[in-house]
Amino acid sequence: MKIKSIKDRNYKEKKVFLRVDYNVPIENGVITDDTRITTTIPTLNYLLSQGASLIIASHLGRPEGKVVSKYSLKPVAERLSQILNKEVKFAPDCIGDEVKKMVSSLKEGEILLLENLRFHPEEEKGDENFAKELALLCDAYVNDAFGTCHRKHASVYTITKFVNDSAAGFLIEKEVQALSRLLINPERPFLLILGGAKVIDKINMVKNLLDKVDTIITGGVTAYTFCKAKNWEIGDSKVEDEAVPVAKEIIKEINKRHLEFHTPLDHVIVQKISEDAPYIITERGTVPHGWIGVDIGPQAIEEYIDCINRAKTIFWNGPMGIYEIEKFAKGTIELAKAIAKSNAFSVIGGGDSVAIVNKAGVADKISYICTGGGASLEFIEKGTLPCIEVLKE
Ligand code: 3PG
Repeated sequence: MKIKSIKDRNYKEKKVFLRVDYNVPIENGVITDDTRITTTIPTLNYLLSQGASLIIASHLGRPEGKVVSKYSLKPVAERLSQILNKEVKFAPDCIGDEVKKMVSSLKEGEILLLENLRFHPEEEKGDENFAKELALLCDAYVNDAFGTCHRKHASVYTITKFVNDSAAGFLIEKEVQALSRLLINPERPFLLILGGAKVIDKINMVKNLLDKVDTIITGGVTAYTFCKAKNWEIGDSKVEDEAVPVAKEIIKEINKRHLEFHTPLDHVIVQKISEDAPYIITERGTVPHGWIGVDIGPQAIEEYIDCINRAKTIFWNGPMGIYEIEKFAKGTIELAKAIAKSNAFSVIGGGDSVAIVNKAGVADKISYICTGGGASLEFIEKGTLPCIEVLKE
């Protein structure tokens, strides 16, 4: 896939509208993970080095078209300024007279971060007039918001109709390259690790990978949903009942293709989910009523590590258990460490990816960590995304 690159363009003295995905977790006004900011820095630095001034725009959270102070991007402006060691001006809105004034006084090398685009309902509607207003602020448009490329929103999709010069930033290029390597002639054996919850959201992605993968291993709510589909006894473990029929369908497809498919051989189970809950290990299919699976057991870990060691390509989505609680994090951490040691091309995607690899201390040993949650799943499902399509050469 050939996407318009910022490398092929001239940004000297241009006002560049740079759409990023700075939808970062913020607790009490403090950013708890700035990966989505740091991963765009190469694009920012490149554009600045080419003589651009930057009008940076993003959404944060889901304020539903209203001004909600906890979703202000102000803390992001401060963090960005710290990271770049440079002033980042902050606009109180993303459109309107005051923003226009701030943009017109922006000089080469300067940066202005606009307030949350989703404070306007028109953003999520992909509204043309709103997109035009944004487009009028700039001479050129750059999209580096990979995490939002599955949304046909005004600032990522519609805006490209109204700017003459649009291109993708380095982050989008890297994401597309890594995810495409999973889809186009992946080196075999290809291992898919499926964990976490939101099984329904992953189904289409899994279906698209069935013709490419050799082995699938499961953990977390995903595993219990497949166990239920196989009529294994899972006690009170969390399942997604609405996903059970599709899980059955997928098992049939897996069998048709003679793929290697694993649910955990054993489980760590508790009667109550809490830090101090006593736990026991039980074999697959023997989780008693009143007990909840919270991690994969030692036999499952051993079996899964063997799958990892045999793989040449790995895609991992979702944890093996409640990894946020230390004593139920073992399955997730051990798999992360095994992947880090393996020679496979490994990609980890989904909402928990960064937290998992950081907790395991292996972030620098994974071939690629996706910054998109829903966007990476949809890319694997369809091989492209609507906002990437509009940036194609
Ligand atoms: C994400 O966090 O996945 C993106 O920023 C998109 O956010 P959304 O799901 O609220 O559109």
